Amino acid sequence: MATFKTRLSQISKKNGKIILANDYDSSEKNLTTKTIQNIKTLYPYLCGIKLNFHLLLPLSFKEISKINKTAHNYGLQTIADIKLNDIGNTNKVTTEHLWNLGFDAVIANPIMGLDSLKQLVKSSHKENKGVITLCHMSAPEAKLSYDMEIKMGKSQKLYQLFLDWAITSKVDGIVVGATFPEIIQYCHKKAGSKLDIFSPGIGTQGGSAKNVLSAGTDYLIIGRTIINDKNPVSVSKELQLQSFSK
Ligand code: XMP
Repeated sequence: MATFKTRLSQISKKNGKIILANDYDSSEKNLTTKTIQNIKTLYPYLCGIKLNFHLLLPLSFKEISKINKTAHNYGLQTIADIKLNDIGNTNKVTTEHLWNLGFDAVIANPIMGLDSLKQLVKSSHKENKGVITLCHMSAPEAKLSYDMEIKMGKSQKLYQLFLDWAITSKVDGIVVGATFPEIIQYCHKKAGSKLDIFSPGIGTQGGSAKNVLSAGTDYLIIGRTIINDKNPVSVSKELQLQSFSK
């Protein structure tokens, strides 16, 4: 079986670079039906879907498995956005559950430490699953934490350490917010083809697909800009076109 990185790259060559974040307001009651409907109508413009606590908390094992199975039937990869950050044993049991649910990859927080991260990558890759780590988040206040000056061997910023750890531990990709294109550019220059860059924060949070793609982003994580639009198909089509023209 191909690796997560390869599977995602293959589908993106055909469908473009958008990963849909299925985040709904708490007023939405038919979460499974709505997500499956999104997959069925938007799949030609997507390479993957991302589920986070909006769905993982309220839905059952059966419902989440059904969503993942449907996504796979339509050729899409699925990512669990839980920003995993715990001791080795908890990470291990958590990812076993995620893989049983049918997910292809997990988003993790590297603050867990380099050794735990290496363990997580090793056990995930053994199952042909992917690990994506946070490098610099999209929210404006991310500057206060991810740009923090630290002394770890040398003087550097926290996101620079997280980038080094991502390369060393051989994760599949990193998350760098679309609201910080200059940091995307820095990471892209440093990591080259070793890491895929995933950027959330397009549209609603102010990031521009065009700018981040030219800065080096490989995949666009997009939620509300598509989901809350009156015509999600036409927005997806437009963003897909931009992702092809990189
Ligand atoms: P919107 O609606 O803003 O949704 O397009 C973005 C999605 O991405 C998540 N998000 C992040 N995830 N690091 C992450 O791992 C980030 O910096 C980040 N910023 C936003 C958000 O939860 C939503 O699902």
